[in-house]
Amino acid sequence: MPFPATFLDELVARNPIEEVVGSYVSLTRRGSNYFGLCPFHNEKTPSFSVAPDKQMYYCFGCGKGGGVINFIMERENLSYPDAVRHLAKRVGMEVPEDAGHRENYRRRERLYALCKEAARFFHEQFLAPGGQAAREYAAKRGLSPACLTRFGIGYAPDGWRNLLEAMKAKGYEEQELLDAGLIVRKEQKGNAYDKFRNRLMFPIIDVRGNVIAFGGRVMGEGEPKYLNSPETEIFSKRRNLFALNVAKKTKRGYLILCEGYMDAITLHQYGFDCAVASLGTSLTEEHVKLLSNYTKELILTYDGDAAGQRASQRVLNILEKTNIRVRVLKMEGAKDPDEFLHRYGPERFERLLQGAESQTTYLLQNIRQKYDLDQDEQRVGFIKEAAQMIAGLPSAVEREVYGGRAAEAAGVTPQTLKTEVDRIREQRARQASRRQEKIDLSPMTQRQPKIRGEQYHAPRSSQAEEQILAMIIQEPGLCDEIPLEPEEFSSDLLGRAYDALREVWRRGGHPDLNTLAESFSAQEIGHLSSVLNRWDHVVSSRAIKDCVEIIRGHKKASQVKSAEDMMDYLKYIQEKKGLGANT
Ligand code: UTP
Ligand code: MN
Repeated sequence: MPFPATFLDELVARNPIEEVVGSYVSLTRRGSNYFGLCPFHNEKTPSFSVAPDKQMYYCFGCGKGGGVINFIMERENLSYPDAVRHLAKRVGMEVPEDAGHRENYRRRERLYALCKEAARFFHEQFLAPGGQAAREYAAKRGLSPACLTRFGIGYAPDGWRNLLEAMKAKGYEEQELLDAGLIVRKEQKGNAYDKFRNRLMFPIIDVRGNVIAFGGRVMGEGEPKYLNSPETEIFSKRRNLFALNVAKKTKRGYLILCEGYMDAITLHQYGFDCAVASLGTSLTEEHVKLLSNYTKELILTYDGDAAGQRASQRVLNILEKTNIRVRVLKMEGAKDPDEFLHRYGPERFERLLQGAESQTTYLLQNIRQKYDLDQDEQRVGFIKEAAQMIAGLPSAVEREVYGGRAAEAAGVTPQTLKTEVDRIREQRARQASRRQEKIDLSPMTQRQPKIRGEQYHAPRSSQAEEQILAMIIQEPGLCDEIPLEPEEFSSDLLGRAYDALREVWRRGGHPDLNTLAESFSAQEIGHLSSVLNRWDHVVSSRAIKDCVEIIRGHKKASQVKSAEDMMDYLKYIQEKKGLGANT
């Protein structure tokens, strides 16, 4: 029996590759990656790399690579299931395989189904005649009908056993309702009753689309304002974020983190489809891990008051150790995004977003605090370190602005700082171009899979195919967008990988090398790792379009067998104005 996707996701999340590999190999950090001596072949200079953002390792020397599961398979010489067991043991997770554990998983599946039924019930009640007051309250809060549907907003009727009876009629046991946190029973023998009564209901849905819990708001004043599901077998508020199931598909390139259900929903309603909310807790490391699967940039929208600032600071501290960039959005004239949007409208919020204070300011302040700028030596240190940071900023305007600030702090002219920044940038550019040259000059044979029967026979098409895979792994949501079918790939190996990754995504998992560990050989995974390593660029819709053109162009050309095909092909080429003609 294959391991359930939910289990594997958690297993991989709880075994960060840099940590697992780090316990075998001494790693040194360089930029966002780690390097060390390869544990799979003898070497004196490190060519073994670990990339936490891609959750993979790769050795430039021997070509071994993969995700954390592969690493354990190779290093401990274990089969796939044994490597999974090994990692589970490492973090104290139960493996769902013997009868008892399988039973556990069946129970969990039942709980998911029950919560979904409950959400359906609440939503129906919301639309039913008895839901009048709830509909009025929702309208008063400015929720649009489309939004009510999208988030499955519901109503828990007043009364003690509405949900309980409805779910029993559907075949669920009281014990299951208790386990799902939907009913409560005060004493062992006492009567059970509905936990949520006369409340507006917000279903909480995990990234895979399962309803796992609820938040229920009093309609008006009352205590508690929000009643939330307790922690259950399927719900942990430390590990879930409200609306991430929707926000993970955003094209905005960043996520907005806010505090409340209503804030997230209203943001979505006004077109900010990238909003998520923490569930009445402060952001945890688990949340960050989860977020890092979906975004590289997070915008915080905390209150401008002291408590809000402390909360932002805490989040910044957690995020400092990751590759996620952060900006902090300061709202004035409203206590939260919900209120802001209703009061000032989306355009003004959009402007706030654009002006959100960058992490760069924050980083610069951090560097600044390390040095005593009254001492010349320390000032030099500050300028050097600040220049390193500023040299990494992508836009010239930013470099100018922050360069100016750093110069002022150090009491030197902006030109002095700029000279240092330019020197660093030139040095980095030289290094990068040397690396690129090596790649460009490396003959095709070096990029070929070193696997029998898997040779690339269409160099340009297979390059484009490699890029498509790299982009999907960076941004899994692209699986829904890229129009290619696996059969269109010129390389069988790359086509199979594409198919498998897309399948994982469609089943709600997170596509990466680990998800391929079971059905691809170590050699194949090694080659795929080298592919991901080679294409380390930012995803753009332009790049996707180009790759698709190249792959399709090649496919067409390779299908030309008859004169008729030839005419078709020429027509196709003309339409594409020559694009893809030279594969
Ligand atoms: P807020 O009090 O800021 O609520 O709590 P809100 O989201 O602005 O709600 P409205 O606009 O008054 O309806 C922020 C979040 O903290 C959690 C909820 O997740 C809420 O959305 N919370 C708050 C609770 O869990 N219980 C409470 O009693 C209050
Ligand atoms: Mn509010």
